[in-house]
Amino acid sequence: MGNSESTAEMHRIFNNAADVYDQSGVEFFGPIGRRLVEFSGIGAGQSVLDVGCGRGAVLFPVAEATGKSGEVIGIDLAEEMVKYAEGGARERGLGHVTTRVMNGQQPDYPAGRFDAVIGGFSVFIWTHGSAELKPYRELLRPGGTFAASAPSFFPTSTGKWGFLPEDVHDLLLPHMTQPKDGDAYDCPFTNIHNNWLVTPEAVESTLTGAGFVDTEVVEEDLPLTVESGAQWVRWTRSHGMRRLWDRLSEQDAEELAAEVARRLDALRGDDGVITLPTPIVYMKARAPRD
Ligand SMILES: C[S@@+](CC[C@H](N)C(=O)[O-])C[C@H]1O[C@@H](n2cnc3c(N)ncnc32)[C@H](O)[C@@H]1O
Repeated sequence: MGNSESTAEMHRIFNNAADVYDQSGVEFFGPIGRRLVEFSGIGAGQSVLDVGCGRGAVLFPVAEATGKSGEVIGIDLAEEMVKYAEGGARERGLGHVTTRVMNGQQPDYPAGRFDAVIGGFSVFIWTHGSAELKPYRELLRPGGTFAASAPSFFPTSTGKWGFLPEDVHDLLLPHMTQPKDGDAYDCPFTNIHNNWLVTPEAVESTLTGAGFVDTEVVEEDLPLTVESGAQWVRWTRSHGMRRLWDRLSEQDAEELAAEVARRLDALRGDDGVITLPTPIVYMKARAPRD
């Protein structure tokens, strides 16, 4: 599952992003985390593993859903992310939450340990198919729930990647998809049109191939709002998309950012903000009962 170079790179990217992650003032991971927990149906008293917990966008709502009679463990590869998740759990008085630095590709727990395994904008990064999802099914008790969110890779009616605003899609896509020399990062972002998330059917059959049953996949637009095009650019620099900018020279990045900001500013509505409907995929499935 994965390879050591790409895992090391993920570790570097997210450790470096931790201080600014989800801090750009743009509401994104919070609403998606809350929606994923609601969609998952996880309830009171359950034992849950949050894989790739980051700063806690899923961890905290899931801890609310289980209540103190439940147990929630958040794991993440990046120790800087785990520090924030741990601090947030303590601030919120969530005594039933624990966090650990752990590679989610090899979760170190016994089979059948959890009622639910959840991954918000995480598991999709390092999975390429059924084989890599199987470990999450094995961690579940019979009938247990797997739930995850991801940027939607379903093509738009114009064949574009809907996660990028249409007006800047062609400007940015080449930098998302073309790894530079020696680039070890291998994830769906470098294969926008050919990965296990390209259609609802592909997602369902990947889950089924991992041994899950009762699959459900939905795509929903998150109305992402920003005050300016520059704020959208800052937001892209505050999470995994920061790699797009890292690939460019400082001058090229500056020029591209200015053009992206200019095009997005032109979309400002009468309400004074720029609203960018951003398609998100939510998936859930169950471990078989016998
Ligand atoms: C886009 S963030 C999502 C974080 C959080 N779930 C949220 O919704 O805000 C992806 C997270 O996955 C973590 N991650 C990346 N590769 C990982 C791996 N192999 N094992 C565990 N966590 C990993 C990153 O460190 C990062 O915190």
